[in-house]
Amino acid sequence: MNKAFDISGKVVVLTGATGGIGSAIVKEMAQNGARLVLVSRNEGKMHRLAEEAGGDILCLPCDITDLNAAQKVVGTIEEKYGRVDALLNCAGCNTRKPFLEMLPEDYDRVMGLNVRSCYFFSQMIGKIMARQNCGKIVNFASLNTYISLSTVSVYAASKGAVGQLTKAMAVDLAKYNIQVNAIAPGFIKTQFNELLWGNPEKNSWIEERTLCKRFGVPEDLTGTVHFLCSEASDFITGQIIPVDGGFLAGQDTLFG
Ligand SMILES: NC(=O)c1ccc[n+]([C@@H]2O[C@H](COP(=O)([O-])OP(=O)(O)OC[C@H]3O[C@@H](n4cnc5c(N)ncnc54)[C@H](O)[C@@H]3O)[C@@H](O)[C@H]2O)c1
Repeated sequence: MNKAFDISGKVVVLTGATGGIGSAIVKEMAQNGARLVLVSRNEGKMHRLAEEAGGDILCLPCDITDLNAAQKVVGTIEEKYGRVDALLNCAGCNTRKPFLEMLPEDYDRVMGLNVRSCYFFSQMIGKIMARQNCGKIVNFASLNTYISLSTVSVYAASKGAVGQLTKAMAVDLAKYNIQVNAIAPGFIKTQFNELLWGNPEKNSWIEERTLCKRFGVPEDLTGTVHFLCSEASDFITGQIIPVDGGFLAGQDTLFG
């Protein structure tokens, strides 16, 4: 392997580690020798994943919307490793309802995790990275960072914010040699969007509308995430990279 892509020995912290996308990343990175810190609310699931993935993995149960609990987790990471090479802000949630029916509690839950927790957890880890004068942060944006799909108005607002936050963090953290980027997954088959792939009509619309003519799988994202955590991406910062099977590129209109 080109040495610039080597992530072995790097301390990588993942939120939402036991989710569909997080789990695939954990397995890929463990296979490539990263030292992983999983942050998730579900302790049992996290330990099962760590066992399956093998390698050097620390499991820290935490609801990252509780900033005091998150700060304790960051203290434990600092005590054990003394550094963080990469942070992956993978935790995310959604509420599907028409705009006219969305409640303040829906708004607070989605914005609270997708934006507020991403912001402050990155700030906590960013302080460690600033002291060591290097680091990589990868945020999880969405198709909704660029366009809006129906019934996800709060999620779209939150992922729009994640896109802009990625740029703002890249600007403020550049002087500490920290690169901040985001990936914008297309439709990836996980529990997160079971309501879509579980519905034959919605599933076919997505498969037809995506240029690659299929749903993505979590493994479709792991190469890009690996790249963004490695030295090979040292001159890339403030970017949002769609990994979407061509969804945003355009649509086959059948005109020709
Ligand atoms: N699956 C897709 O099609 C898709 C598309 C675009 C963007 N994304 C984004 O990718 C990321 C991962 O998505 P996924 O498909 O793996 O979803 P998922 O639902 O499988 O995983 C999300 C994870 O976040 C965790 N989480 C939720 N609230 C938390 C909290 N308060 N504290 C700690 N962890 C918490 C969940 O427990 C879960 O493990 C999300 O940010 C999502 O918005 C997913």
